[in-house]
Amino acid sequence: MKAVRGRLLSFDDDPAVAGESHRYLEDGLLVLEDGTIKQIGEATDLLPGLPRDLAIDDYRDHLVMAGFIDPHIHYSQTQVIASYGAQLLDWLNTYAFVEEQKFADPAHGARIAEFFLDEALRNGTTTAAVYCTVHPASVEALFTASHARNMRMIAGKLLMDRGAPDGLLDTAQAGYDESKALIASWHGRGRQHYAVTPRFALTSTEAQLEAAGALLAEHEGVYLQTHLSENPREAEAVAALFPDDESYTAVYDRFGLLGPHSLFGHCIHLADSERTRLSESGSVAVFCPTSNLFIGSGLFDRDRARDQRFPLRIALATDVGGGTSYSMLQTAGAAYKVLQLQGQTLAPLQAFYDITLGNARSLDLDRHIGALVPGREADLVVLDARATPAMAHRMETVEGDLAEELFVLMTLGDDRAVRATYVAGERLHSRAKTS
Ligand code: GUN
Ligand code: ZN
Repeated sequence: MKAVRGRLLSFDDDPAVAGESHRYLEDGLLVLEDGTIKQIGEATDLLPGLPRDLAIDDYRDHLVMAGFIDPHIHYSQTQVIASYGAQLLDWLNTYAFVEEQKFADPAHGARIAEFFLDEALRNGTTTAAVYCTVHPASVEALFTASHARNMRMIAGKLLMDRGAPDGLLDTAQAGYDESKALIASWHGRGRQHYAVTPRFALTSTEAQLEAAGALLAEHEGVYLQTHLSENPREAEAVAALFPDDESYTAVYDRFGLLGPHSLFGHCIHLADSERTRLSESGSVAVFCPTSNLFIGSGLFDRDRARDQRFPLRIALATDVGGGTSYSMLQTAGAAYKVLQLQGQTLAPLQAFYDITLGNARSLDLDRHIGALVPGREADLVVLDARATPAMAHRMETVEGDLAEELFVLMTLGDDRAVRATYVAGERLHSRAKTS
């Protein structure tokens, strides 16, 4: 048993739906045992009932929240991030497809997996939905590293049987067999979950999309992750390749890929009929603001995604290496700017709900993670809103206003604002106080 003392912030519900829905304890205590939260309360209430020699990590100046969740990221693209000058299809051919071929070497995958998880933890991210490459060894590498750290992780092997270099292609049958074997070894092992991962409609034949649908139907609880309507030229190419389908979404729908465990990256250029099917099926639209700006894909229209005629479940993600930051703080800050450009907004409490409980709900993992509640897994992030000179300077004018402090964190904060990260009760990342 151990404890973490700090300024505790957690969400019970979506502020957009429920109004004020956060709980905040100025001097709170979290008691952790066996990887989960055992108690939460005011420190002065709980301390008298606890053993005198209880180890307490004292973060009294700092905010302590549930660990951040990144529902769309490519661990294979940590050396693609910051690649110049191309929109989606050229970017894939020039950069991503070249880099991903290196994962044919299992040793490369093992090294990058360790880097990737280190970087996630440095940024306070404790759970992610991860695209590996077409190589099964890339999935083995990621799950092996994640399982060793006891992180709750969703990941899967790319299914790609056309439209890419030979070194990145499987076949419908091989992709099915390899995915099935990976599901058998990893789905439900410790905190690992499998996602069937057809890259997007342009790199899978109909036979492969059908195999993806079969994998989903045959395995209870697995996820589906793919890309949908990110870029206009991509959407045109899909229309040319699937002339009999009414829309991009209809292609995935025809093969049974929509549903409450289905995560569709981007969803920028959608017709109302597509929104209707995504909404009816309970599918999740994943908003990746730094990527959408960097690759020049377009502006995610969040108000439209929430339109009561066809409300979508929405998640907020980095999409590294199209995305430009591993930080969910920076991602929330970019989301704010993308919405500003459209006359919309992202209130700070809403943003922090989104990257914790909101994303946990989008991944159907909220019974495990996403909030500071007894029984939930003890995945935590400790945040310092005065981490840099510029942040400390700005914070001089913030007088006890929690929302304003959160807005400073999402606008100026990044990995430097993450003082510590806990996974299942263990502190796996910690950095010295800088200011
Ligand atoms: N669409 C298909 N593959 C990818 C990818 O790797 N990154 C992004 N951003 N979009 C994609
Ligand atoms: Zn992506």
